[in-house]
This record gives sequence, C-alpha cells and structure tokens, in this order.
Amino acid sequence: MEVDTAKIDSIIEKYNRDRSYMLAMFQDVQRLYRYLPKEAISYICKQLDIPFSKGYEMATFYKALSLKPRGRHTIHVCLGTACHLRGGPNILETFERELHIKTGETTEDGRFSIETVNCLGACALAPLVRVDEHDFGKTTQAVVKKIINEFTDGVKS
Ligand code: FES
Repeated sequence: MEVDTAKIDSIIEKYNRDRSYMLAMFQDVQRLYRYLPKEAISYICKQLDIPFSKGYEMATFYKALSLKPRGRHTIHVCLGTACHLRGGPNILETFERELHIKTGETTEDGRFSIETVNCLGACALAPLVRVDEHDFGKTTQAVVKKIINEFTDGVKS
C-alpha cells in the first residue's frame, strides 16, 4: 500500500526526528491508518537511519500495534482474571461465532476486528467488553448480539 509520506514526515517532525520516540511514531501512524503498514515502518526507519529489521521487530513486539488492517470497530474482550472467571472466554467465543472470525482477525466487510486484553481496569464490571471507546459491563451472550446489531445498524458507526 502507498503511504502518505507528507503526513508521516509531520509525525516524525513532531518527535524531533528522535529515534527514541519510534514507538510513539508508530502509534501515531496506526491512529492514521487504523493499522501500521509495513511501508510506513520502512519509511520511518529510512528517515531515522535505522535498519528496517529493528523497526519491524519493535512493531511485532508490541501487541497494541497491528500490521494487518483493522476493522472500523475493534472489539476488545477482556480476559483478565476477573473477566476470565466470570465468563470472558464464553463472550469471546460468542463474538467469534457470530462474526465468523477468530481473535486477531477482521470481518470481510471491514467492520469489526476482535482482540483480547488483560484487564481493562474495571473488574467490578466483569466480564467487560470495550468496543472502540464504549464499555459494556457484565456482558452476556444476549448483549453480544445487541452490541453487534448496534454497531452494524450504524448507531455508533
Ligand atoms: S479483569 Fe477485566 S476489567 Fe479487570
């Protein structure tokens, strides 16, 4: 894919071309494209005079960075201890079944991606699901279907 080098240049400048901010640059690029294209890693590495392998290694190490295109809505299913004990794995399975994708994948229409996280810091609401910036606490299988419909019908799209 072709990346907008002018936009990436301004991200690099924002951090004064400082190599120690490469991770922050990657995060900004991800915000721009909803994922981190390999071409952007390569461009940033070139600009900072860092071997591509180093940048790629960092990009694959941090779970928050995705090298694959993400859906318009990212469903984060919490599998921290509290959520795990209160049915998080079942909630995850239900999302996977309903959307016909596995964790880490994106639906064909590009609408949803599923990710897991380890504690979203609101354990009293376990099992917790976060879709983009919306939290859904004490999630049940019925709520999973409601969430999918809500975001599919464009209410929060
Ligand atoms: S374990 Fe899920 S919010 Fe803490």
